Amino acid sequence: MPVEETETKVILTHPADESTSLTILKHGATVISWKYKGQEKLWLSDAAKLDGSKPVRGGIPLVFPIFGKSKDEKHPAFKLPQHGFARNSPWELLGQTTENPLTVQLGLGPEQVDPELYKLWDDGKNDFTLILSVTLGDDYLTTGIEVENTGSNDFEFNWLFHTYLRIPDVTDVVVNNFTDAKCYDQLIGENYFEKSPMISFTEEFDRIYKEIDSKVIFQVVEFGKVLTTVERDNLPDAVVWNPWIKKSEGMADFEPKDGYLKMLCIEPGHVNSFVHLKAGEKWNGKQTLRNGGEIKVQTN
Ligand code: BG6
Repeated sequence: MPVEETETKVILTHPADESTSLTILKHGATVISWKYKGQEKLWLSDAAKLDGSKPVRGGIPLVFPIFGKSKDEKHPAFKLPQHGFARNSPWELLGQTTENPLTVQLGLGPEQVDPELYKLWDDGKNDFTLILSVTLGDDYLTTGIEVENTGSNDFEFNWLFHTYLRIPDVTDVVVNNFTDAKCYDQLIGENYFEKSPMISFTEEFDRIYKEIDSKVIFQVVEFGKVLTTVERDNLPDAVVWNPWIKKSEGMADFEPKDGYLKMLCIEPGHVNSFVHLKAGEKWNGKQTLRNGGEIKVQTN
């Protein structure tokens, strides 16, 4: 069966190749596994909580309605915990929408969010529907989000796909096409333009790359070979994160402790500014992760 639903998960299997599959945890609608021809493409911590008690450490957690923690006390999202509530809420499977490529949708509305948490966003005034579409293609995985403002107040939000890519060794890879992009380095609190022709990883890394044209793709390249290509639609920003040694040690749900060598987060989103969504309107964004690809060098 191409789509199988259990109490906690939704499993998609490619109709023509059962070694290509993906698993979505209903908690957070978190894609926790994408296998391309038997090879796992996403990193998931051995200590990730999959029982709904916490957001998942690994896979593709969904960040909404705030990225990070708001620093502005007057902002309606100020009281929300880091990365909001979407990744920590039980989503519902809405059903399969296409057979080829195989697509399912999951939904989230305020009634599914922990009421205590929901109240922290603008005193519970914002009414919304989120619909996540997940597509398993021959050699790609697409996650697309539609945010609809179903209430009578305008609201604003951040969106981010917090994608944990699995890689053989982070010290052996580079990522292209960030050159000359505006960047905010979260570790030193400074803005600058990225000058490296390829970014590489030798220590903790936490940067928000901003306002990058949708046609620019990011590629994780190992010894001249593209491992994964990341494509975006209507998601102008991308966070690149690796916790390295000390930060991994401080995260109880991060195992094994040297797992930082096997992962790299490339997180397409809309986080440098908020999306303003008027009552009754909809907004969409999507990312596609593709196995391999030809190296493409693009400028910003
Ligand atoms: C990244 C942030 O997106 O997520 C980092 O840029 C943060 O600063 C990381 O540490 C993990 O966040 P969390 O809430 O999942 O531990």
